[in-house]
Amino acid sequence: CGIVGYIGTKDAYPIIIKGLKRLEYRGYDSAGVALFNGEQFIASKTKGKVSDLEERAQAENTLKGSMGIGHTRWATHGVPNDVNSHPHFSNSGELVIIHNGIIENYEPLKQELINRGYTFKSDTDTEVLVNLIEDIQRNKGLKLGKAVQVALNQVIGAYAICVMDIKKPNEIVAARLGSPLAIGIGEGEYFVASDASPFIEYTNNAIYLEDEEMAIIRLHKPIKIRKIKSDSEVSPYIQELQLNLEQIEKGGYDHFMLKEIYEQPQVIRDTFRGRLLSDQGLIKMAGIEDNLAKFINAKRIIIVACGTSWHAAQVAEYMIEEFARIPVEVEYASEFRYRNPIIHTDDVVLAISQSGETADTLAAIKLAKEKGAFVFGVCNVVGSSISRETHAGAYTHAGPEIGVASTKAFTTQITVLALIALRLAKAKGTMSQPDYLRNLIELELIPEKVQEALLENDRILEIAHIYKDAANCLFLGRGFNFPVALEGALKLKEISYIHAEGYPAAEMKHGPIALIDENMPVIVIAPQQNHYDKVVSNIQEIKARSGKIIALVSKGDQQVRNLADHIIEMPHSTEALTSIIATIPLQLLSYHVAVLRGTNVDQPRNLAKSVTVE
Ligand code: G6P
Repeated sequence: CGIVGYIGTKDAYPIIIKGLKRLEYRGYDSAGVALFNGEQFIASKTKGKVSDLEERAQAENTLKGSMGIGHTRWATHGVPNDVNSHPHFSNSGELVIIHNGIIENYEPLKQELINRGYTFKSDTDTEVLVNLIEDIQRNKGLKLGKAVQVALNQVIGAYAICVMDIKKPNEIVAARLGSPLAIGIGEGEYFVASDASPFIEYTNNAIYLEDEEMAIIRLHKPIKIRKIKSDSEVSPYIQELQLNLEQIEKGGYDHFMLKEIYEQPQVIRDTFRGRLLSDQGLIKMAGIEDNLAKFINAKRIIIVACGTSWHAAQVAEYMIEEFARIPVEVEYASEFRYRNPIIHTDDVVLAISQSGETADTLAAIKLAKEKGAFVFGVCNVVGSSISRETHAGAYTHAGPEIGVASTKAFTTQITVLALIALRLAKAKGTMSQPDYLRNLIELELIPEKVQEALLENDRILEIAHIYKDAANCLFLGRGFNFPVALEGALKLKEISYIHAEGYPAAEMKHGPIALIDENMPVIVIAPQQNHYDKVVSNIQEIKARSGKIIALVSKGDQQVRNLADHIIEMPHSTEALTSIIATIPLQLLSYHVAVLRGTNVDQPRNLAKSVTVE
């Protein structure tokens, strides 16, 4: 979700709306705004995009005032409807809040408040928090800041919040734990936002709140920052921002997809943070540790998924079998559920889903549970149906993925699956200690190497110019890179509408070779690893038939350079982990081809981000 707050002398509404638009990459299920008009709070909220909110607000034409807060929501649980939209008011109407995050213990808190006579309009945890603050104010006679602090000390979960109190018409209280919050310091005005983009044209000075810090922001007074737990005062650290306006429109990118491609170094790091302890040679994932016996005693692991997640499943098959020596079967969830599959009680079923809502995957999980299997989920969306339906699981930490064509979800899925495969290998003793440690260290280096792979962007753009009008395209890879070839082809199909096929490189001669002529671009993933010589032979077969070769090679490669029409270099890694690195240039290639063809990159025709129909 995205948060914006303003307190100053200007009209708050246009500043907040513009800011929310800049934060829409964080979600656009619903949007809302609340302003203090000098006498009372006026709010407007709606499901849908910020432009829907604007339409509604213009019709209502009441949003005046120079202090206000706004919110754009990416629903993780609870339907995105008008009532669940933020801001939320306390029962008296005196307090109003916007919140990004999840209050995990909201149920007991809500029950307590109901017992005290509070009522709730929405299903949200946020409405519980604002009433909790009100209750504390009433019972203890506390001012806004203190009451917020006491409330947050009772809360378990993650949050970034802004609260206003009618009794304090010149004050916004903001706090963070787990969700980002920046405060912009202007001349006689302050801004609060999830990132600096909403206020960058007004000021270059900002304070980034740290976790467990809260700020009392008052007009014409210095900002006060306190530690929420210890109550100690923190002297504000004001940073000078290096951003300019162009950079931060849509996070500085033309499309969400491109932004998400470029987020990968960060989100891969987020995904292994706290789990990968390479200096101790350890992998710690609660969902796996708690169920380790089930995994290591499993006769078989069956992985079910759809679309891009199914490709991640295929990479996982190779990893789990090679590292942990447990037999793995990968199934399309839609096939699995309808074919009366053989499932034993000592099978582990692993379900992979970015959204956690895909209907076929959900149905496959239910079937597996009925047949007595232990079901483990790998999801990106916290609190999604699949994450709730599975016995245990591990989240990817890709953050909201908005581009319909999946990018960062895929590479973070492979990251989680690599962690699982390595943890199981360690538990089963199926991998030599040096190999195990090398993979741990290499995994830790992946963000840097992905960053390096992104540096090939200009060369990839040149290649896209040359092949943008191709009618067909072939993607080839072997081993861990065979699923990457499938994913590369899927990406190109999805957003450029060019027909593309992914194939295991050696299978080319059993069919697709018939398609090769001088008009056929063939993208070959050819890192210097096992089977390198075999891939070189495949490249020669393409060349002999005048196919155009775009080769992804390890840095410094000479042999393929001499054969291919175009070379894209990537950093070296272990064979398994090269699958993550090789994905990056393929994402960029599809992206550029699609942009050059003028398609709707972020919302390609006929596709949906989350497929909740069978
Ligand atoms: C849709 C999306 C794909 C995604 C697939 C599976 O088709 O467009 O990008 O890979 O669903 O989605 P899931 O959320 O289960 O990973």
